[in-house]
Amino acid sequence: MAKLLVTGGAGFIGSNFILYWLAHHPQDSIVNFDKLTYAGNLENLKDVQNNANYKFVRGDITNPEELDAAFIDIDIVVHFAAESHVDRSIKDPSPFIVTNVVGTQVLLDAALKKGIKKFHHISTDEVFGSLELDDKSKFSERTNYNPRSPYAASKAGSDYLVRAYFSTYNLPITITNCSNNFGPYQFPEKLIPLAITNILEEKKVPVYGDGLYARDWLYVEDHVRAIEAVLEKGKVGETYVVGGQTDEISNLDVVKKIIRILGKDESAIEFVKDRPGHDRKYAVDWTKIKDELGWKPKYDFDSWLEKTVEWYKDNQNWWKNVKDGEYQKYYEKQYSNS
Ligand code: NAD
Ligand code: TYD
Repeated sequence: MAKLLVTGGAGFIGSNFILYWLAHHPQDSIVNFDKLTYAGNLENLKDVQNNANYKFVRGDITNPEELDAAFIDIDIVVHFAAESHVDRSIKDPSPFIVTNVVGTQVLLDAALKKGIKKFHHISTDEVFGSLELDDKSKFSERTNYNPRSPYAASKAGSDYLVRAYFSTYNLPITITNCSNNFGPYQFPEKLIPLAITNILEEKKVPVYGDGLYARDWLYVEDHVRAIEAVLEKGKVGETYVVGGQTDEISNLDVVKKIIRILGKDESAIEFVKDRPGHDRKYAVDWTKIKDELGWKPKYDFDSWLEKTVEWYKDNQNWWKNVKDGEYQKYYEKQYSNS
């Protein structure tokens, strides 16, 4: 029986984690601590809102008093809260530094003060930089950091702080660096939900540059299962990289697959101006977590992409509500001079 403080639990991966955890660990309880930025949505958690083992607290990880009030008898911190979108970090890096770097440090301090048993930090493979398309090597726990976007740099900063709190203060930390996720409840500013929802709205799908960029897509529940494996069996102080098996599939291929699933034609594709500093390829070697903790991906890309498309078809109210006025303004600004 453990009590978890989950930061950023109203976001994409955090809400998938909470739904999974309450279903698979009914003896545990969760406090979801989330600021509810544009990316946080309590609709994701409506199935558990009346669960006696679940509580939502609105708060900002940069605010020590708000954290203090939420940190009651917490055993484990699972830290998802972050600004998470590369394009937004290019337009304005400052909220990324405030939440991802300063916020993580304030949270680490709170966790240290409360003497928690475990602090798990959710990070990204983007801290490792970019691979060439013909590169045979993959990112592993031994790869040097080389972040190339303000988002990646802010996550790298947070990873270093988490490690520093382990070596300096013995805070019992673990870290996962995961590749790109997809699945239900992902905000439609990210490639896969953007493509699906734009096609459902009969709009074009913006593909950056030549479209030949590659990501190591992982179905969100596989990421959640990896976090579960680390929480249950991970070694304190260790980092585990987590990824899928799609580094040979380009963004263009991903968009074409979505178009095919929805029965549309490729005229929906619109090549637009490339992202500055666009990382060519991510690929992850997840041997360590497989060998040491017995984790491997369970959900294949093609079938779960299809199921994800179905989810967005079946939950149009969810994404129509988030593609609201504020999002429209972002969209127009982001894609205006393509
Ligand atoms: P998201 O943007 O969907 O959700 C982020 C959540 O954090 C939102 O609910 C938001 O309200 C909350 N939040 C933001 N600032 C906050 C603050 N100052 N205080 C409290 N809450 C705050 O993000 P996501 O895609 O679910 O990513 C979650 C984590 O996983 C992030 O740390 C991200 O870096 C990491 N990650 C994401 C991916 C991916 O593919 N999405 C891959 C690897 C790692
Ligand atoms: P994204 O979902 O933003 O994730 P990340 O940048 O963290 O990898 O983008 C995934 C890939 O898709 C990335 O190579 C950028 C590309 N992309 C487009 O081509 N068009 C778009 O409109 C978006 C949002 C992304």
